[in-house]
Amino acid sequence: MKLLLSLALLGVSLYLAEGLTLVCYFSSWATYRPGNGKFTVEDNDPSLCTHLVYAFAGLGSNNKIRVLDPYNDLCEDYGKCGFDRFTNLTRRNPKLKTTLGIGGWNEGSTKYSNMAASAASRKIFVDSVLVLLKEHNFHGLDMDWEYPTQRGGSPEDYVNYISLMKELYEALHAEGMILTAAVSAGKATIDPAYNIPELSKYIDILHLMTYDLHGSWEPYAHHHSILYAHPEDTGDTLWLNQDFAVNYWIEKGAPKEKLVMGVPLYGRTFRIKDETNTGIYAPATQPGAAGPYTREPGYLGYNEICEYQMTEDWTVVHDPAMNEPYAYYIPNNYLWVGYEDPDSVAIKAQYTLDKGLAGCMVWSVETDDFHGKCHGMKFPLLTTMMEVLSGGVYTKPSTLPPTTWDPFRTSPDPAAHCKQAGPNPDPNDCTHYWFCNMGEQGWEEYERKCDAGTLFSPTNLICDWKDNVCKAGFCPNDCP
Ligand SMILES: *[C@@H]1O[C@H](CO)[C@@H](O)[C@H](O)[C@H]1NC(C)=O
Repeated sequence: MKLLLSLALLGVSLYLAEGLTLVCYFSSWATYRPGNGKFTVEDNDPSLCTHLVYAFAGLGSNNKIRVLDPYNDLCEDYGKCGFDRFTNLTRRNPKLKTTLGIGGWNEGSTKYSNMAASAASRKIFVDSVLVLLKEHNFHGLDMDWEYPTQRGGSPEDYVNYISLMKELYEALHAEGMILTAAVSAGKATIDPAYNIPELSKYIDILHLMTYDLHGSWEPYAHHHSILYAHPEDTGDTLWLNQDFAVNYWIEKGAPKEKLVMGVPLYGRTFRIKDETNTGIYAPATQPGAAGPYTREPGYLGYNEICEYQMTEDWTVVHDPAMNEPYAYYIPNNYLWVGYEDPDSVAIKAQYTLDKGLAGCMVWSVETDDFHGKCHGMKFPLLTTMMEVLSGGVYTKPSTLPPTTWDPFRTSPDPAAHCKQAGPNPDPNDCTHYWFCNMGEQGWEEYERKCDAGTLFSPTNLICDWKDNVCKAGFCPNDCP
């Protein structure tokens, strides 16, 4: 059976060929996500990444690096010690580098612009970084200023950013630490923001954010991390793809061996207008509805996307003109999503090998299918990328069959099955389950049948392979 094969493979440790890089961002706030979306420091798999970045620290008004969530990040005052638990992950993989990311979209640009503007305030910043990193055993800093000269930054940032990076790089290297940076993949930002030849001197790895290239700020559906331009792209939209950004950075002077290409473990969603116009450039009016875990309109983690597809009748499209899938489900408010699957991330990892780049970066680990609900293996996207980057054979993860469902079948007393919205088990019969919604008159339920060879797992709340469910001791009526 395919599934057993992939589980056996997971038991074998994967090692990257010397020099290849897989940088993984970890969103520390994912510990606050509900249900199966909750992801803590220890949920990271340190064998699947060469570098793990803790997102994020911020910048204080005193120009020092600032801890954004002291309760989660620090041990003081009965805190949860996120930083120290994170850097402790190197005990599970001594080759792993753990770094601290500073900035990110929500931090804005203005503070960073002001700090970088004078040698005195840069020195205060650099000194504070060294103290914090050493205190928590980080191996380096990841600078996520989004972006110099943009979003409230000043034109002088073009020069000041380089001074800042040079001073950081020299101070960190003197302590045996590294400096990396997340940088824009948009031509309109790259041109004013980065002196690429100078930046390249003072950096260990450049993380190209080759995603979010399309989104619900546009009036049409498009894939946000398409590898190559789509045949329908014209004009400036020809720049909004990963290949363009990689080539542009190289052409402007970035050394290939310091470049990693960003691959998103999430999709960007739209609410399309018309159920008969569902392709790339379908008219779209709004962001798609938020998912249950990430809870942000316009955004769905791969874990949310694949769980939806397991329980709802989604249309998945493999447009021959692109390497990535998109999918839509009209009954869920015309929801449309462009995302990555194991095949597309394998192609992207191979692309970085062919191109001679250092490797890949992912944003971010906690939206991979880390519970293993959709392919019978945990972290199917990251594992696939690790396999390809390490020159291994790409083992396509098996896909659990989706369920078929009967929208009309209900029982006389839905409340007997419905304990929560979404899938609920039938204690007497694991060959089907009840999908529940709270309606105006109380619980409403729909029966959904599990495909042959699968049974409904009362703990994972999906139709899982029969072996898995029976081994866990569930479903005495349906197990041998
Ligand atoms: C990190 O690991 C060491 C050694 O196992 C342990 O003593 C320490 O408590 C750990 N720190 C945290 C915050 O878990």
